[in-house]
Amino acid sequence: MKNIVYVSTAVKLLDDDQLLNILVSSRKNNTEHNVTGVLLYSEGTFIQALEGDDHDVDFIFSNIEKDLRHKNMITLINEQISHKSFTDWSMGFSTPRAEKLKDVLGYLQSVDSLNANKGTGAAVMTIKTFIESNNLIVTY
Ligand SMILES: Cc1cc2nc3c(=O)[nH]c(=O)nc-3n(C[C@H](O)[C@H](O)[C@H](O)COP(=O)(O)O)c2cc1C
Repeated sequence: MKNIVYVSTAVKLLDDDQLLNILVSSRKNNTEHNVTGVLLYSEGTFIQALEGDDHDVDFIFSNIEKDLRHKNMITLINEQISHKSFTDWSMGFSTPRAEKLKDVLGYLQSVDSLNANKGTGAAVMTIKTFIESNNLIVTY
């Protein structure tokens, strides 16, 4: 098993429908390939963690690399893992527009449970830092 974490830049600022399109195809394909992870977007910057069997992660990643909706991909992490960190997350998604306290609580619970259950792996720490520094709310 392996994980990949990368950042990239959207070629233009994306609206909710465009983000939703990416989310829908990601959920479908990743589920089919048993790839889990999280995709976050904040003001033109993506960060994504993908994890699963090597060939599945590499397949999904090679598709993402060809996508013209983003550019300047930088791989932060590409390494073997012994267990998944994002098993419960499927593909998460986030926008900076947080409305309800309920969502904030949901976000806090999920980050806390990541820490409690999965230790402090590099992928989790990288994603968590992005969430906190961009003040994101993660919804599922
Ligand atoms: C930032 C970003 C992240 C993406 N993440 C995924 C992903 O995790 N899984 C996936 O299948 N497609 C992802 N995509 C979409 C792929 O690049 C590609 O459009 C998609 O796999 C095509 O699948 P389809 O033919 O089923 O629509 C992402 C695209 C972008 C711009």
